[in-house]
Amino acid sequence: MIGQWTAEWAQKVKISFKYFESIESTNSYAKSLAEEEHYDLIIADIQTKGRGRGQNTWLNAAEGTQLLSSWVFQTEKPPQPIISPMLGLHVYKALKSRWHDLIWSVKAPNDIYINNKKVAGILIESVTVKKKHRIIVGLGINVQAAPNLPNAGDLQSQLPGPVTQEMWTVFLKRLQLEIHEAVSGGLLEKINPLSAAELLQALNLNPLVKTPFIKVLPDGSLRNNEGIIPWTQI
Ligand code: BTN
Repeated sequence: MIGQWTAEWAQKVKISFKYFESIESTNSYAKSLAEEEHYDLIIADIQTKGRGRGQNTWLNAAEGTQLLSSWVFQTEKPPQPIISPMLGLHVYKALKSRWHDLIWSVKAPNDIYINNKKVAGILIESVTVKKKHRIIVGLGINVQAAPNLPNAGDLQSQLPGPVTQEMWTVFLKRLQLEIHEAVSGGLLEKINPLSAAELLQALNLNPLVKTPFIKVLPDGSLRNNEGIIPWTQI
């Protein structure tokens, strides 16, 4: 359902996309494409080898209940490390703007939570093809169900009613804008002060944070009372 709805939206707004009922991983597929082959968006209903950050995997819930997507950008400039917090912030903003009554937060580096449950994860990868950069933003959202993991949650169970296609389409429009903004900001070396302030707030809303953060530094590092945590070590 979510994959189908997303594909219908992509078609309507004329985004080049590829939709699979089942694939190893939308990110791996995007990475494997030759230079001349480009899709702005890869969508799947099921991934047989969904990947998370580092050695982690991204698990399926019931077929079609999650957004399993890769958003692809070709840029002249290489992505900078702050692209990770920028994407966390902007995906959070997109979700919060659509479902504003829920307690959304960001858990560093870029997981999105509702209350104390992880609802979305982001895996950013990039490949260089003939001096051009292809940035692949892998985004998984548990929309109507979550995988069977203790810390995983889904959006729909927090709402008074089901997520409808109309709601989803409105969200996708905003998500697209936010992801674009994050990727353009992520080509710069420093986080702008407004985004740093918004991110600080989003991080401190996470109930798992024991020592509140005091500042998000321009390079994305986090400061709390105990010291500075480089973003790369989170
Ligand atoms: C994480 O939580 O560590 C990141 C999870 C990213 C999951 C998405 S689902 C679509 C895309 N394809 C993948 O294999 N992973 C990302």
